Amino acid sequence: IRPIIIDTDPGHDDAIAIMTLMAHPELVKILGFTTVAGNQSLERVTKNMLMIAELTKSRVPVVMGASKPLERELETGEHAHGSSGMDGHDLPSPARLPLKVDYLSFLRETIISSFEKVSIVALGPLTNIAGLLTRYPELGERIEEISMMGGGLSNGNITPAAEFNFYVDPEAAALVFASGVPITMSGLDVTEKAMIYPRQWEALHHGGAASRFFAQLLDFYNIASRKFGFEGSALHDLCAALWILKPDLFESAYYHVAIETRGELTRGMSLADRRRVPSLPPNARVLLDIDREGLVSYLLESLKRLDDM
Ligand code: BDR
Ligand code: CA
Repeated sequence: IRPIIIDTDPGHDDAIAIMTLMAHPELVKILGFTTVAGNQSLERVTKNMLMIAELTKSRVPVVMGASKPLERELETGEHAHGSSGMDGHDLPSPARLPLKVDYLSFLRETIISSFEKVSIVALGPLTNIAGLLTRYPELGERIEEISMMGGGLSNGNITPAAEFNFYVDPEAAALVFASGVPITMSGLDVTEKAMIYPRQWEALHHGGAASRFFAQLLDFYNIASRKFGFEGSALHDLCAALWILKPDLFESAYYHVAIETRGELTRGMSLADRRRVPSLPPNARVLLDIDREGLVSYLLESLKRLDDM
């Protein structure tokens, strides 16, 4: 059973990734959730995280992380996720509160007190993780892997060059890629193939609590997906979770990836050295393809488990 920390800015696809991880206690032990400003303000995404925790009866601590990127003002994902950051569902406001501790201390304590090395599933801008590795660089040794959603080797989504998470905090992404900690990057190359179509979730409106929540989220999220030219919805963050749960769904390659922090048109772009003879050794495993049908059946199976839990 792998110990993991989930760093997140929920977010429709964050919620789906989180629930899928929660459905598999035989594979992962979730040690904590840290939230980060991204899809919406820190307050809003934390509220969303607490709602997910209440729905799933999770007792894992939720800790508030960074309220803005390392060096820039926050730009949110309201265009895709709405004004709450997770619009479309009818869950009540959460009664639970986040744990009142400093997130860097929480992350440090959690990592050093784990017997086994900890993996981090990073689903938002990398502000918290970059902060951690800057403050406590020695912790890098204790991290098994960072499985992150971000970037894209051939295109962006928020700009032609950049994917949202890396665009929002490019300095943080650059620090993490330079840290030497093992990275698995689920970028748009794979996440835009992680599609689910309306006919595959319609029936879930009549399922249990987790399934209904999922179907409501997808109905909203699909409106934005259509605006961006997709018929289905790309479950971006789910890829970073599935890499931990079911890696045989993916094809991948190792590259040296650098993050652009200064470019005028290319802020936050992830640039992989794909020359035959690259000048630097690889620093990331990049997921490139996914068994889409396999993803959908694993997801539906996971929701059924949550409905029954
Ligand atoms: C990423 O940006 C957010 O909108 C999603 O939650 C995902 O993490 C996709 O570019
Ligand atoms: Ca996210």
